[in-house]
Amino acid sequence: MGRFITFEGIDGAGKSSHIDWYAAELRRRNRNVVVTREPGGTELAEKLRELILGESMGDLTELLLVFAARSDHLDRQIKPALARGDWVVCDRYLDSSFAYQGAGRHMSTAVIETLAGWVCGDCQPDRTYLFDLDPEQAQRRRESVRDADRFESEQVDFFESVRRAYLARADAEPTRVLRIDGGQTIETIRQVLASDLDSLDAA
Ligand code: TYD
Repeated sequence: MGRFITFEGIDGAGKSSHIDWYAAELRRRNRNVVVTREPGGTELAEKLRELILGESMGDLTELLLVFAARSDHLDRQIKPALARGDWVVCDRYLDSSFAYQGAGRHMSTAVIETLAGWVCGDCQPDRTYLFDLDPEQAQRRRESVRDADRFESEQVDFFESVRRAYLARADAEPTRVLRIDGGQTIETIRQVLASDLDSLDAA
């Protein structure tokens, strides 16, 4: 049976470097894997991603576009893959909306909950890896890698709020969310992921 796995964390916390390794490890274990990302993952949702990351817009417009992208992604990619029994490994999902649009942009959590109910229903991750890192360290990492998009150019206090929201969600759902210290070495993080995979795979 397939599983729905998500990777989360503030920009620069290190999640993206582990996703391909995680997917390769699953394939080594003879699982069918779909690697995808949000916003994005389908042709339409990737177009919406470009707008979300690149165009200036109001906070409500941003929130609605993120959920529009998610709706297409769920219908055309995530749900069909899970129905086939594949493992879906997704770079960001609903927790990002609560953390970035909710805590970062101060959009109402109740509104986000309502959108989540409409759009995602019971399609919730079986496991979420939360890459956690001090926002100043994350900012230094980002600056060394690439030009900033609309979110990455936010100030450290924005990411402090985003991080707090993530940690609160991890506390509220300890069986789903595994917090990973993003300051650890790649090797250590891989060991953590592999041993978690052992338990997920056996369940
Ligand atoms: P990210 O996943 O960090 O991709 P890259 O590593 O290529 O920059 O970028 C996606 C951005 O989208 C990230 O800054 C957070 C933002 N985002 C939201 O604000 N809300 C959401 O619901 C999602 C899925 C992403």
